[in-house]
Amino acid sequence: MFLEPKESILNLDAYKPNFGSSNLKKLIRLSANENALGYSPRIDKELKIKSFNRYPPQHSEELIKTISKINNLDQNKLILGNGSDDLISVIAQTFLKPGDEAIYTEYGFLQFPQSITVAGGIKKIAKDINFHVSIDNILNLITDKTRLIFLANANNPTGTFISKSEVYRLINNIPENILLVYDAAYAEYIRNDDYIDGSELVENFNNVIMLRTFSKLHGLAGLRLGWGYSNSKIINFLMAVRGPFSVNSIAIEAGIIAMKDIDFQNHCFDFNLKSMKFMEIELGKLGVKYVKSSTNFILINLSDQDKSSTKNAVLFFKKNGVLVREMNVYNLPNYIRVSLGSEEENNYFLKLLKKFITQNDNR
Ligand SMILES: Cc1ncc(COP(=O)(O)O)c(C=O)c1O
Repeated sequence: MFLEPKESILNLDAYKPNFGSSNLKKLIRLSANENALGYSPRIDKELKIKSFNRYPPQHSEELIKTISKINNLDQNKLILGNGSDDLISVIAQTFLKPGDEAIYTEYGFLQFPQSITVAGGIKKIAKDINFHVSIDNILNLITDKTRLIFLANANNPTGTFISKSEVYRLINNIPENILLVYDAAYAEYIRNDDYIDGSELVENFNNVIMLRTFSKLHGLAGLRLGWGYSNSKIINFLMAVRGPFSVNSIAIEAGIIAMKDIDFQNHCFDFNLKSMKFMEIELGKLGVKYVKSSTNFILINLSDQDKSSTKNAVLFFKKNGVLVREMNVYNLPNYIRVSLGSEEENNYFLKLLKKFITQNDNR
């Protein structure tokens, strides 16, 4: 008889986001919320690392210092991870024992339920209201077994965020022995007084960790680099659980350059804002409904176009070389999530969408 994994893993599917594949040579990937503009051009010029025979530092002082300086944060409260995905699992492994409960939201990021299950925890799902996180629904799920609350703000796949006052209403109403995991993967795309990235919560409360990533606006998804900010006691627990060399040398060096390249960050921010406005206007002209997004992707409702499901739409786009993400896993069969691409890619996507709608009208 083969060795079996622990019970919580037995029926677990691997979290393999289906970003899609296609036989076409030229493929436009709008299914993974990446940065269509690439990454800081300074990285190709300045990256020097060659000593691949050496282990990376376990705790890169230089990257930590850079993050701390640019974001005005206390360096003793920072942790790096192999993507923020890695930190999400480390948090679940650190704080959940079998039978403990963890809350996440209905249309929350899929890595949350995955990590809870792997850790042996019990998943509690707070219903969203109109594609927005509901603080009341989260609070109503709290029991004396609750250990973690996962909140992505802004959220993937809805693209919506909840306001500063709502976030404070949450943190002010949860007991100190529950950790709020505040995942701000898209924070760099939002410049709005009503939005907080979570760092001020960490300064004011002991039971919050903010998570950030280099995969989105910084465009370094392939290098796997994320970071967390929390009180130093929590950071020390996580450091003990995290793999000692989980962040590689190239990611560290590229991360330092990316964090310092404010011009590139501003360029990506401006471009994203412009593209989102353009997309909203064009979708409006086509009469296509969408959820208003503050991120680099948009959730589009195709129910008026194709009453059965969006499967046809996803296949149609794929046949024409564009990968978009279907939302069946969230029980949203009439929606697709589309990342913003380059100007040319966005135009091409819209051209295809128009064609798809016209075809359906003529059925
Ligand atoms: C809300 C949210 N958190 C975290 C991540 C993962 O980021 P990383 O690439 O740093 O693991 C994503 C990626 O899509 C995300 O949408």
